[in-house]
Amino acid sequence: MLILSPSMLSADFILLGEQIKEVEAAGAEYLHVDVMDGIFVPSISFGMPVIASIRKASNILFDVHLMIDRPERYIEEFVKAGADIITFHLEATDCPKEVIDKIHSLGKKAGMSIKPGTPVESILPYVDMLDMVLIMSVEPGFGGQSYIPESTERIRQTRKLLTEQGLDIDLQVDGGISAENVGMVLEAGANVIVAGSAIFRGSITENIKAIQTVFAEYSEKK
Ligand code: DX5
Ligand code: ZN
Repeated sequence: MLILSPSMLSADFILLGEQIKEVEAAGAEYLHVDVMDGIFVPSISFGMPVIASIRKASNILFDVHLMIDRPERYIEEFVKAGADIITFHLEATDCPKEVIDKIHSLGKKAGMSIKPGTPVESILPYVDMLDMVLIMSVEPGFGGQSYIPESTERIRQTRKLLTEQGLDIDLQVDGGISAENVGMVLEAGANVIVAGSAIFRGSITENIKAIQTVFAEYSEKK
């Protein structure tokens, strides 16, 4: 199944509730929620109070991307705030298995993310426990960056590695994705697509439609 997860990092926060409603009405499956702590990544975004507040605006699935150091400290709080899927960075923790177990024990889906410089094989010990793998296609930390071309091969390798393990789990890609290059990452094996600036710049509904059109073309071809 192809899934679109618009990243609210690029939203206009004055209009946040309305824009999330528009994302949901346009038929996006998830809302991608980027949490940054100023330590694991240089920037700081928002945390639990904002998530808890927007939870009331919409029933869309919250796909929470934790770009924070030692995520094990906060899993419970993000679940309480309204996260449905929690993705953490392998590079940010010494106890990835415990983080995954914690997310699952709270009844939520667990994703693991790696930065562009981390070998894709490093996820191997954990893949059979995961619901999703996130391959970053930019250095995490900011919206609006350009897609790193080597990411396409990394997505392909990750899908191959998952298939070899007999796993048909979600493969997410995040960073620099637009209607122009989304076809390429679908071809490479990604099925959960994050897009921030490509969705929130201009008409949200039209931008979502443009990506959904590529989804439909890809599904027909397959
Ligand atoms: C980057 C974040 C992304 C970001 C994507 O660290 O993880 O989710 O919002 O934004 P675009 O699509 O503009 O690259
Ligand atoms: Zn993200």
